[in-house]
Amino acid sequence: MLAALLVSLSVAAVLAYFAKSVLLRAPSTSSDSTAFGTSTGLSSEEQRKYQEQILRKRKQQTSTEKETKSETPSVMQPAQTDLAPPKEDPITVEQLKQYDGSDPSQPIYVAIKGTVFDVTRKADTYGKGKSYNLFAGKDASRALGMSSLKEEDAVSDYSTLSAADLKTLNDWFDFFSKRYNVVGKVVDLPPQGSTSAL
Ligand code: HEM
Repeated sequence: MLAALLVSLSVAAVLAYFAKSVLLRAPSTSSDSTAFGTSTGLSSEEQRKYQEQILRKRKQQTSTEKETKSETPSVMQPAQTDLAPPKEDPITVEQLKQYDGSDPSQPIYVAIKGTVFDVTRKADTYGKGKSYNLFAGKDASRALGMSSLKEEDAVSDYSTLSAADLKTLNDWFDFFSKRYNVVGKVVDLPPQGSTSAL
């Protein structure tokens, strides 16, 4: 008799323990909530606050990771902090050609969507015979958008690019804007669409 009473009492105690754990558990918005129960000794209000803190921290971490990834892929040079105010000097297509890296005594210019960037600092990349020389001394927006290194794509007309390629082009524009001084604007580019057959 006594034994039966003891058994039912312990069963009741076990059931009450589990019921309490389940009821006290914080809203299961993340896997962290599974760590909670009566074992933490925290009130449900305290658990909720703690949980919010964890979620906030996670959000911060994820957005920092994202920024670092999109902003500076590891092989790319970091953004510059000492850029000069952008200039609006008019530059013609003909003038731009002089700055294609063939003359080491001249600066090297790359134009994107008509904005001219001074990339002389990176002569090892844009100089004569270097990997990205096809972008130098001209506006090669189309090739940048298409991620193409073909001469025939190195033109200013980006009117027929897909939405994804346009985004790539704009990302490159941002990349250059954060790294190179703007020295002027190309004033006589062929109108967008006029050379789209290229
Ligand atoms: C196998 C393919 C490619 C590899 C391995 C590669 C590699 C690299 C590397 C290592 C850099 C950093 C270079 C530096 O800081 O001097 C870079 C930058 C760059 N890449 Fe590429 N690339 C590839 C394809 C392309 C293509 C197809 C394009 C055409 C749009 C392109 C355009 C650029 C540009 C504009 C930069 C920025 C250079 C700067 O001003 O810092 N790349 N690439």
